[in-house]
Amino acid sequence: MKAEVVSMTADNLDMEAIRRGGDILKQGGLVAFPTETVYGLGGDALNPQASMKIYAAKGRPSDNPLIVHIAEFDKLAPIVAEVPEKAKILAEKYWPGPLTMILPKSDLVPQETTGGLDSVAVRFPSDRIAQELIKAAGGYVAAPSANTSGRPSPTTAQHVEEDLGEAIEMIIDGGQVGIGLESTIVDFTEDVPVVLRPGYISLEMLQETLGDVRMDKGLIAADSKVRPKAPGMKYRHYAPKADLAIVEGPEEAVVKKINELAAEAKAHGEQVGIIATDETKDRYPEGLVVSIGSRKEEETIAHHLYEVLRDFDQSAVRSIYSEAFYTPRMGQAIMNRLLKAAGHKIIQVV
Ligand code: TXA
Ligand code: MG
Repeated sequence: MKAEVVSMTADNLDMEAIRRGGDILKQGGLVAFPTETVYGLGGDALNPQASMKIYAAKGRPSDNPLIVHIAEFDKLAPIVAEVPEKAKILAEKYWPGPLTMILPKSDLVPQETTGGLDSVAVRFPSDRIAQELIKAAGGYVAAPSANTSGRPSPTTAQHVEEDLGEAIEMIIDGGQVGIGLESTIVDFTEDVPVVLRPGYISLEMLQETLGDVRMDKGLIAADSKVRPKAPGMKYRHYAPKADLAIVEGPEEAVVKKINELAAEAKAHGEQVGIIATDETKDRYPEGLVVSIGSRKEEETIAHHLYEVLRDFDQSAVRSIYSEAFYTPRMGQAIMNRLLKAAGHKIIQVV
């Protein structure tokens, strides 16, 4: 099977193609579509066979639950057992948007969609194309990121085509996504809300709205025996084919160390790549360095991260050295993904 690719923009929707996409989903097929975070691989969330197809297409373990996407507020109640007061407050503030909430599920949601769990992840994306497709499909679309399991999440339709072009029926090309990192996941199945995956909406923003919110212990202590609660967060992920190491410390020392490491690798005849920022890129050898964005506009770093990692896969680069990006608001989310991509390989300099 070769996926049909249809192009449209949020301001110029192709409603005929969306209707066809909705029909494919209703019949149990798969359609990839843009959201404001990353591209999703959609299937009918209430159809167990469609969920099984999603796992197969991605090569994803079927104990790793899917996010159910909705496009109207009143579609939430039927799929959950209850909505805690704090979840209502978050929904009002951040939906539609890059927020996923874990809530106790109702019987309407099959175990296949939730990887056997009694809870369900729900998200109401703000992307217009996503919203129209979800409505055309009947209201509930299960969608993980539309990459092959283990690869960086797709931020363009071309990325989706590379990974899944032969495995699904349709890809809706809505251009490059806005945010570039997956949604923030907040778990409401315990007394205090817990962030299972950081994203555009930061812990501080959530605490400002709700008061007490915690970070999943398995995320903070990534190397310890504490397991992350979101099953997907335990896998090596977002990883480029080359070896990636993060060099961390004061800017001067980082630039010096990366230059040394690159020179060493070059001396061994090994191709290296360097991930820097607009502020530092001129201090590395031209041809080896790519800028991921500007530290003054942290959104640009989030926006380019997966694209930069994917681009290295197209080159002969064998080792990559990256600066660390602990930016004020999205730093937590950016570094969570970068550390996973690096398999937590950090070189500390002083
Ligand atoms: O931005 C996003 O969230 C994108 C777009 C397409 O919406 N989707 C996405 O889905 O990133 P996926 O499947 O790649 O990541 C979902 C994460 C996984 O780590 C999974 O383990 C976790 O959510 N998850 C889903 N349901 C869960 C549940 N009931 N309990 C705990 N974790 C859950
Ligand atoms: Mg994913």
